[in-house]
Amino acid sequence: MTGTKSQIQLTHVTKAYGSHVVLSECNLSIWGGEFVVVIGRSGSGKSTLLNLIGGLDRPTNGEITILENSLTDISEDELSKLRCRNLGFVFQFFNLIPTLTVAENIRLPMALNNPKTEHTERVTNLLNELGLPDCGHRFPEELSGGEQQRVAIARALAHKPDIVLADEPTGNLDLDTAKEVLDLLTQTCRRYNATLIMATHSQEVIGSADRVLTIRSSHLEETAP
Ligand SMILES: Nc1ncnc2c1ncn2[C@@H]1O[C@H](COP(=O)(O)OP(=O)(O)O)[C@@H](O)[C@H]1O
Ligand SMILES: [Mg+2]
Repeated sequence: MTGTKSQIQLTHVTKAYGSHVVLSECNLSIWGGEFVVVIGRSGSGKSTLLNLIGGLDRPTNGEITILENSLTDISEDELSKLRCRNLGFVFQFFNLIPTLTVAENIRLPMALNNPKTEHTERVTNLLNELGLPDCGHRFPEELSGGEQQRVAIARALAHKPDIVLADEPTGNLDLDTAKEVLDLLTQTCRRYNATLIMATHSQEVIGSADRVLTIRSSHLEETAP
């Protein structure tokens, strides 16, 4: 989505777990196609912020609007449809389904949206695009960590989401593999014009982002990349 309206809008968002305030009165606007990096020390609230934006969790106070849908007003059913259609997730521990093949894992988000189609060509194209041409029939445990994360990236992008949320996607990979996976993720999102919001510790990623947000003492601060 392009235009003058922001794609993601947080207005006075607070998230507390009991008396522990993780995010306090956060305001944020993100436009379509932006690459935004979220940094902050461990426990600062990076995952909390991504989970709120992804509708996996709800704020204690304040309003979140995603693609012109207010997450406050939306039902669980509508929220789940929004996640399926418009969002893609990449996690630190890959979260592939071990009993499905690589091709079946990648097909899953498309099958949820459109169960009557096989999506075979799209899966093959994604496997090629992410450098995994002969891996479709294999199971996740037969792949290296870097390969599994590429499959997770293919799965996150399969249904051409507007927004991709990546929570420390290379936190579990060695440095060289991490660099490859990050390049692949950022380039693929740019190619699809998907908004990418990534929590990371990598200095290199920070340098290639459009915007850098730091969570400090439960507040969001924006600094130049
Ligand atoms: N479901 C939860 N219940 C209670 N506390 C939580 C929950 N999820 C996260 N927290 C707390 O919120 C804070 C921020 O966590 P998190 O967002 O995971 O940080 P980060 O991703 O930056 O490491 C931490 O202090 C964590 O313990
Ligand atoms: Mg985290």
